[in-house]
Amino acid sequence: MCGIFAYLNFLTPKKRSEILELLVTGLKRLEYRGYDSAGVAIDSADNQEITLIKKTGKVALLEEAIKDFSEKLQVSGHLDTHCGIAHTRWATHGVPSEINSHPQRSDDSNTFVVVHNGIITNYKEVKVFLEQKGYRFESETDTEIIAKLIYHFYKQHPTFTFRELVENVVQQLEGAFALCFKSKHFPGECVGTRRGSPLLVGIKTKTRLATDHIPILYGKDHRPHGRVEIPSLPRTGSTEFEPLEDKQVEYFFASDASAIIEHTNRVIYFEDDDIAAVRNGILSIHRVRRGGDDPNHREITTLKMELQQIMKGNYDYYMQKEIFEQPESVVNTMRGRVNFETKTVVLGGIKEHIPEIKRCRRLMLIGCGTSYHSAIATRQLLEELTELPVMVELASDFLDRTTPVFRDDVCFFISQSGETADTLMALRYCKQRGALIVGITNTVGSSICRESHCGVHINAGPEIGVASTKAYTSQFISLVMFALVMSEDRLSLRKRREEIIDGLKNLQGQIRKVLLLDEKVKSLAENLYNKKSLLIMGRGFNFATCLEGALKVKELTYMHSEGIMAGELKHGPLALIDNTMPVMMIVTRDPVYIKCMNALQQVKSRDGNPILICEEGDAETMAFASQYLEVPKTVDCLQGILTVIPMQLLSFHIAVRRGCNVDCPRNLAKSVTVE
Ligand code: G6P
Repeated sequence: MCGIFAYLNFLTPKKRSEILELLVTGLKRLEYRGYDSAGVAIDSADNQEITLIKKTGKVALLEEAIKDFSEKLQVSGHLDTHCGIAHTRWATHGVPSEINSHPQRSDDSNTFVVVHNGIITNYKEVKVFLEQKGYRFESETDTEIIAKLIYHFYKQHPTFTFRELVENVVQQLEGAFALCFKSKHFPGECVGTRRGSPLLVGIKTKTRLATDHIPILYGKDHRPHGRVEIPSLPRTGSTEFEPLEDKQVEYFFASDASAIIEHTNRVIYFEDDDIAAVRNGILSIHRVRRGGDDPNHREITTLKMELQQIMKGNYDYYMQKEIFEQPESVVNTMRGRVNFETKTVVLGGIKEHIPEIKRCRRLMLIGCGTSYHSAIATRQLLEELTELPVMVELASDFLDRTTPVFRDDVCFFISQSGETADTLMALRYCKQRGALIVGITNTVGSSICRESHCGVHINAGPEIGVASTKAYTSQFISLVMFALVMSEDRLSLRKRREEIIDGLKNLQGQIRKVLLLDEKVKSLAENLYNKKSLLIMGRGFNFATCLEGALKVKELTYMHSEGIMAGELKHGPLALIDNTMPVMMIVTRDPVYIKCMNALQQVKSRDGNPILICEEGDAETMAFASQYLEVPKTVDCLQGILTVIPMQLLSFHIAVRRGCNVDCPRNLAKSVTVE
């Protein structure tokens, strides 16, 4: 997905080379999101023009291209005050190319330049309007209309401030966006805004900030009639605001906190339709109109994340690091929530809503990809402990069906990033219909967090590898904890609850044990890496592992893989079985053990030679296979946490063996912020 990074230094002298380095480093921190081209905009050597440097491919190539400009840009010269903007693009409109990458520009002289995350849905109308006014377009992007539209407004209203121009532009736009603007007419200024795509600003001052909030300034509603037929635009919005007291200040606009954390931990997360402008070193936040409950200010929050948390550590790949972090991440998810002594669970983020949730008509769990699988993994336990109907939905399909949702429904939105567009749309759909919205996310301050009524932060720590691993096990545990909370006053379930809480207590050690399988899994990968397909079968509490395991194999290795419900074997998949088809089966001693063994026999009698994932020491089951991976036994409803880890390792090793890009699989992105 696209990434935005902008850097503004006010009365803080920096060499041009330092500024360029800062911009490139910012982009590197966003690389994990997936992208296909990158670009920067900075002032030219005479400070009269804006220089654009753009490159298709990796940020490292952009870095090379920047070197070629160093003489022309006089990179050793100092700039006291300057604004640079940068972007990684993931193509939506138009192929990956230099002309289509961002920053996009208003004209040949780069009067206004803009970087954009998201999609402008009405760009064609705006483009027609601008073409009629004589503007000629060079790219295939939706973003170019934004750069040209602001230039158009500037020509009409040369006395408007930068912020006023942006205010007028965004009122013409439909769709989702986060934007950062730079202009040669407004040197040392930056304007950022968002609607539906995340944007935040980090603030760095020499001394501690004198304020912990920035006031919001509201203007009058001045939306013009007719979206693109704008005869003249009135000026709006106050320009008075309380300045930050420090003089020397640096601002870091970014679509993701990982890009700014090494510079500052003081950030403001913008809300939809905030227009944030830095002028004379002062940040002000404006909104065009005020609604009833709108706040007076935006808080400056302190990020807890540390850079090393998002760096690779001793591992070769982020994904590998994240798999091996699971003994700690699962504990972080439970920390302060599960009391193993008293065998109680408290979820602070939803505590007050529990009575309401207990009265609901049904639970709906909604997500995409791996997050969806965490819902499948816990549905059975939720049904058992809440005795409520539980619907599990893929966000995209849920929206396609315009599913009936009622006021007495409780809808869970599960998302690692908290920004997945389909999940967010589904959230808004359910919210509009009056349902209670519970967010289960890994990203504090994300859109899903902010738009939920209540929620559970899974606390897995930053997940950089595109393929989700530790977030899955933490989402799994979060939903298990919720089921435990829902059944706290049910005497008849006491024994079951206690057995699960004991199981949670032992998880850390058991995950460590599973990770010791790494070498064995690696040699298994050696046998499997050149196969065309891998079937993964199981049922009951382990079915989700089959789906998630197959997703991991597909994402990372580009091999075909399918998670198969063992109960469906006779209804089709059995036709695939012969002595050449690689099959894995998950067979643990849970209530469906006999049925799984049945499936195993069927596969064997068709000449299949399945690799088993089974319980440690279960000789009777192991006797049915020549290859197996033993995982420790835990309570049935938690077994999926232990059986999924060998699948994570297997997909990882196959990917490495096949020479695939483990952390950034082709065509995929970490955070899918478009529908
Ligand atoms: C993308 C990622 C997956 C992830 C899915 C949902 O497809 O590549 O790893 O599971 O989005 O993302 P979310 O952030 O909502 O959990």
